[in-house]
Amino acid sequence: MIRNLQDEILKLKEEKKVTILAHSYQSPEILEIADFTGDSYKLSVVAKDLDCDTVLMCGVRFMAETVKMLSPEKKVILPVSYATCPMAEQISPQRVLDFKKDHPDYVVVAYVNTTTALKAVCDVCVTSSSALKIVKAIPQKNILFIPDRNLGSYIKKMLPEKNIVLWDGYCPVHNAVTVEDCETAKKLHPNAKILMHPELPAEVLEYADVVGSTAAIIEYAKNTDEECIIGTEKSIADYLNLVRPTGRYYQLSKKLICPDMRFTTLSDVCQALKGLGGEEIILNPEMANQARRTIDEMIRLGQ
Ligand code: 13P
Ligand code: SF4
Repeated sequence: MIRNLQDEILKLKEEKKVTILAHSYQSPEILEIADFTGDSYKLSVVAKDLDCDTVLMCGVRFMAETVKMLSPEKKVILPVSYATCPMAEQISPQRVLDFKKDHPDYVVVAYVNTTTALKAVCDVCVTSSSALKIVKAIPQKNILFIPDRNLGSYIKKMLPEKNIVLWDGYCPVHNAVTVEDCETAKKLHPNAKILMHPELPAEVLEYADVVGSTAAIIEYAKNTDEECIIGTEKSIADYLNLVRPTGRYYQLSKKLICPDMRFTTLSDVCQALKGLGGEEIILNPEMANQARRTIDEMIRLGQ
């Protein structure tokens, strides 16, 4: 059944000259039919230079909007229109404008998990893998970081030379993990390395041996013979156990499941390719242009 659907998708994709991008949190059967997979940073870089007319973005809305922003001439489709990231709308563009008016000497840094309207009023974007490098490279000392207080406080801790003001947003999935979850996982697997995404709360990150983006966690875990406790969305530990059955990968907490990332199924991808489902991303061109500056700036500073 899965194989048949995958074959149909591969045929349709070829016929219609569609490129499929999939975030690493997608299911293994979707990752298998994608042309490019990776974390938010890799997908942003890839999206800039795609040679095709249509892109299908398997992930959540802000990821599809980022692709559209970077390739305005292409048709960009989100297979499931209600797959969104709750964190992306935790601050309104007006609040950012108000802050900028009161604090003209601040640079506003937006996590990539934000809407196009928000990016359009910010100065530079970051992803979890590029945040440290980019914030360090910003010449100004004063920074407002939106919306993730957890990623923001990790950067603040690592870059004490900067004056970073945090917004009070968070990822509801990563933020739900507690110190008790870490204690339990450590008791169950005392010899395991603990790999954590910086969207986890600061007190939880104290338990980390490695802090990194989805891609950095996969890279580390694939190349070590040690047991690993994976502190990010469940799909990553599942993926690692699938591609490397000899490895020993454990989930940090059962709470690490992102419902929005799980909405997209092979059948949604197939329907979207047939033009029977999904949503074409349409952005206000002026707003998209403004927002694009922040991604271009991220890629420039991240090189
Ligand atoms: P990455 O930047 O690691 O891809 O993370 C995106 C995300 O939504 C994490 O929850
Ligand atoms: Fe958003 Fe969190 Fe889901 Fe990532 S895991 S898409 S940050 S809700």
